[in-house]
Amino acid sequence: MTVRVTVQGSTNEAPSYDVVVGRHLLGELPGLLGDGVRRVLVMHPASLQATGEAVREDLVAQGYEAFAVELPDAEEQKTAQVAAFCWQVLGQADFTRSDAIVSVGGGATTDLAGFVAATWLRGIKVVHVPTTLLAMVDAAVGGKTGINTAEGKNLVGAFHPPAGVLCDLAALETLDRWDLVAGMAEVVKTGFIADPRILELVEEHADELREWKGSDASPETWTVLTELIERSVRVKARVVGEDLTEQGLREILNYGHTLGHAIELTERYQLRHGAAVAVGMVFAAELARLGGKLDDAVVDRHRSILDSLGLPTTYRGDRWDKLLAAMQRDKKTRGTLLRFVVLDDVAKPTRLEGPDPTLLAAAYAEISKEPPAGRPGVTVQLGL
Ligand code: GLY
Repeated sequence: MTVRVTVQGSTNEAPSYDVVVGRHLLGELPGLLGDGVRRVLVMHPASLQATGEAVREDLVAQGYEAFAVELPDAEEQKTAQVAAFCWQVLGQADFTRSDAIVSVGGGATTDLAGFVAATWLRGIKVVHVPTTLLAMVDAAVGGKTGINTAEGKNLVGAFHPPAGVLCDLAALETLDRWDLVAGMAEVVKTGFIADPRILELVEEHADELREWKGSDASPETWTVLTELIERSVRVKARVVGEDLTEQGLREILNYGHTLGHAIELTERYQLRHGAAVAVGMVFAAELARLGGKLDDAVVDRHRSILDSLGLPTTYRGDRWDKLLAAMQRDKKTRGTLLRFVVLDDVAKPTRLEGPDPTLLAAAYAEISKEPPAGRPGVTVQLGL
């Protein structure tokens, strides 16, 4: 069954668009691209050559002039040099304002392709075809685009909502188990900030999700995963439909990300985003508990759900000073005050601004563990 979730737009520059979840969705592309598109550039990483080429051929069969550009894998593609190469391809193929880009890949590809689309001729259409769980429930929806610089991740970018998103579940048949689990961290985040049913579903099915078997997963597991994706997309659609440019409500999507980003930075990005966010959520829960906002039971629920998925809930105790410095430099910090999204209860997110340093240190003590002897830098199992 195909499900369609509409993200409400607000202006001509940010019109409404659909996120389509289902299978065999390529026939939906012309509808999402809309009228007037003649040329399409398919952008995909090298590891998805066959999938990218299949999308390109399908577009040709549907009457488009379609080109493909192969990108480096993972974060390697999110550079100014790769973006400049894509601009060169667009220029040489005479892409006009009414032409479009289709991205096929994970979150790094949707970020880069969205950025190239945002900047070519001051903005052309982009449709995302996310191939990882993380990209389906988070990166592809909401219009955040960007590239990295030597100074940090996503420091250069733009808000550029897509013209549509196709979440083809078939892509998850071959998804690596750890990529599935890492994507589940964002699903769990969505449950804690907005949809308690997500948490119940994960609690009931954590074993099958943790041991993700792709195309060999049972029909029941596929049904559950599909519902988790739909629910997560609905929450994200509602939030970004109300606050595209993160002036207020959208900040709740950063639950667990303040410490999570700092951990990723100190691990030099050798740790999956979802693993870092998992630790960050437990930290945020401890902050709220020690600040008198959150019950012990909800904090325990964070640990038990994330543990049951095989996600980390602790981090090395000797890293606090580095993490604090990294959080203070984070681009989401406003002025000099640290900001955290915390919970008053499940589905009751709020902000905590400028918490007392002793409260921060006490919360960190609750999630600390001894550094692994003789193995500096190797802290949790969800590395690359
Ligand atoms: N990934 C958080 C957001 O889209 O705002």
